[in-house]
Amino acid sequence: MTVRKPMMAGNWKMNHTHLEAIQVVQKLGFRLDAKDYERVDVVVCPPFTALRSVQTTIDGDRLQIQLGAQNCHWEMSGAYTGEISPLMLAKLTVKYVIVGHSERRQLFGETDEMVAKKLRAVLATGMAPILCVGETLEEREQGTTDAKVKGQIEAAFAGLPMDDAARCIVAYEPIWAIGTGRSAGPEDANNTIKVIRDHLRIGLGDEFADALRILYGGSVKPGNVAELMAMPEIDGGLVGAACLDPDDFGRIVQYSAG
Ligand code: 13P
Repeated sequence: MTVRKPMMAGNWKMNHTHLEAIQVVQKLGFRLDAKDYERVDVVVCPPFTALRSVQTTIDGDRLQIQLGAQNCHWEMSGAYTGEISPLMLAKLTVKYVIVGHSERRQLFGETDEMVAKKLRAVLATGMAPILCVGETLEEREQGTTDAKVKGQIEAAFAGLPMDDAARCIVAYEPIWAIGTGRSAGPEDANNTIKVIRDHLRIGLGDEFADALRILYGGSVKPGNVAELMAMPEIDGGLVGAACLDPDDFGRIVQYSAG
């Protein structure tokens, strides 16, 4: 059986100035040690304005925290006022970029097509996308969760060469669980993640599907991370509110699956 290394990625969203960011990362680094990094890939995704200060803190303190970004444009350069290119991120040693977060889809009009272009642009610069998928409360109540996530997955992965697909990470984030304090039950989250993995298995095969890391996101906190991580399909967390405090995020990284 393939062993998938767990990943805990903190999505800071629109929080922390570049100065606060330095303190947060230093505190997190102080809390974690080599054992933690060996067990879990630890990723922080600060806002664009804090990427540079976080990068220099990680380098200066020789931390094994990995750098992620929350979004990017699909072009490498050009007349796109206010946008950030994947090349700019790669140059800052960013390793992961969140694409298709539900907040970007819902509040900023990102379509499946735009998400697919961003995913390809991220891969083209050698970084790894963290592709977010998930259903609304209404879709869940109508019983269309599986159809929704399968559609989002298909739109993003269609026609992707295998070696690119193999560098992707997926995050299942039910929209009704984001920022609400109400996480999906571990079994529910596990079931939907299995639907995603099995759907990709059909197109891309067992070896790919068994190696793909699929994270859960939506009100992950120190108090529920262990029960989520005890589920066989859940390979990590994409953490919002609870990652802003380095002690809480440290406790999440140091979860014990019991
Ligand atoms: P919360 O952990 O605040 O629910 O946010 C989850 C999320 O959207 C991570 O990307």
